Amino acid sequence: MRWPLNLVMRPSIGASIGLPAVVLLASQLGVAAAAAIDPNGALAADSQSYGLMIDAGSSGTRVYAYYWDHDKVTRSGIFAVHPLMNKSGKKQLASKIKPGLSTVQPANVAKYLQPLIQDALQYIPIAKHAETPLYLKATAGMRLLPAAQRDAVIDAAAAYLGDKSRVPFRFDSVYGAQVIPGESEALYGWMTVNALAGRLNKGQQSPPTSGAAGAQTVAALDLGGASTQVAFKPLYAPLSNSYRVHINRTSHVIYAQSYLRFGMNAAHRRYTASLVRQQNATAPPSLEKSTQMLRNPCGIRNMQSSATLETGQVVQTLGTGQFAECRAIIRSSLLGLDSFCATTPCAVNGVYMPDMPADMPIYATSNYFEISDILDVAGSSSISRLLDRAQDKCTNLDASSAASGLPKAKDDIGIVCFAAALIVELLTAYRIPAERQIHFVEKLSDRSTDWTLGAMIDMVNEIYMTT
Ligand SMILES: *[C@@H]1O[C@H](CO)[C@@H](O)[C@H](O)[C@H]1NC(C)=O
Ligand SMILES: *[C@@H]1O[C@H](CO)[C@@H](O)[C@H](O)[C@H]1NC(C)=O
Ligand SMILES: *[C@@H]1O[C@H](CO)[C@@H](O)[C@H](O)[C@H]1NC(C)=O
Repeated sequence: MRWPLNLVMRPSIGASIGLPAVVLLASQLGVAAAAAIDPNGALAADSQSYGLMIDAGSSGTRVYAYYWDHDKVTRSGIFAVHPLMNKSGKKQLASKIKPGLSTVQPANVAKYLQPLIQDALQYIPIAKHAETPLYLKATAGMRLLPAAQRDAVIDAAAAYLGDKSRVPFRFDSVYGAQVIPGESEALYGWMTVNALAGRLNKGQQSPPTSGAAGAQTVAALDLGGASTQVAFKPLYAPLSNSYRVHINRTSHVIYAQSYLRFGMNAAHRRYTASLVRQQNATAPPSLEKSTQMLRNPCGIRNMQSSATLETGQVVQTLGTGQFAECRAIIRSSLLGLDSFCATTPCAVNGVYMPDMPADMPIYATSNYFEISDILDVAGSSSISRLLDRAQDKCTNLDASSAASGLPKAKDDIGIVCFAAALIVELLTAYRIPAERQIHFVEKLSDRSTDWTLGAMIDMVNEIYMTT
């Protein structure tokens, strides 16, 4: 039971999870942070501190480097965490490996992570290596693993990252590598886009019940490979999934929710399973040998693809380009829209979600961006614009015209229409009006919208504010 302990935010109304771990972590690192003040002249003026955050997602693992002004945090409690950029300031320093950590055997974890550490060593000044905290946070791909396997992989990661002969950074071998709960991921994502959009500046806040409060912060939507997240500051304290976030001496009550198996790839596996069931294309064991292909309404017409079920079994599908039917299957088989809703209003699967304030800007990142970009509607767009474009491409293209009709799709060509339909149905289930503007973004001012920035902000907060 590693991951439920690690909810870093303090839940206000929801369950109270994880404080002991957090306090321990903070006090340990607090000592480190204090020791980072170099008493000798040259370095004393340099109060820049660094941190490294590894995002172990379901389809890949990335490392990002950040810095902040140590003295400023200590003095005022008002702080900014900046992504480290390359020399020209145009490109964020980051490194990525594929596939996801959840696919790696424990014995191979060190070798798998090594290229990221190799790059991280270049990002951080050598003199700062020993004092630079390093964290690895894994998300839904790892949440889906059986507990024993999950723990073995995390232990292997912690053993490697904590091995001072190979990794010189400051790493806590007990709490440094974790599988984080989806709600933490959602809150980190919220902090990331709000920090990048300049919405966490001191003095931005107004009372949580005023209409204007909604406009002050932005909503964060994230569509990963295995899970999807939503987080925003509602007009009134939410009835569940309510979290208090305290940054820059300002308090926010945030609704944060994560849906496991609703990420793009995990949802596609569930969709394929529903095709198997619906078409009764005989029971799974014989499908493997069958030359019969599943009819796939979410696939581009005449396009053959292989798709993987949650069981790992691979089936062959034949696209039929029936976008309306594709959407209908997603609504009826995947989203649980008719599930019992105990606390109204609900979004999907009978899960409570308060209204998103009408004037609140919405930022949709990761696969929301990827798919909108493939459909050429990235940037400021709307559900209805995305829907129009997807409908056009997904009904009119066929196997021979797909590559030229959707040149940016590349490896995603077999899943793009499914993903577009999923996005339309999810956002609609969140009660976002079809014409409302949504910012489909990957970066803001060249900075990645990955939740890692929010995780780093939270860590800096914990390091300094609780000691
Ligand atoms: C920084 O990244 C940008 C964008 O990739 C690139 O054009 C530029 O040459 C890089 N600058 C340096 C100094 O590495
Ligand atoms: C905190 O506020 C300062 C000053 O308004 C701002 O520069 C900084 O970016 C804010 N911090 C975060 C994490 O957004
Ligand atoms: C469903 O399965 C039954 C029994 O295996 C078979 O007789 C029937 O033809 C199947 N229907 C379809 C639509 O494949």
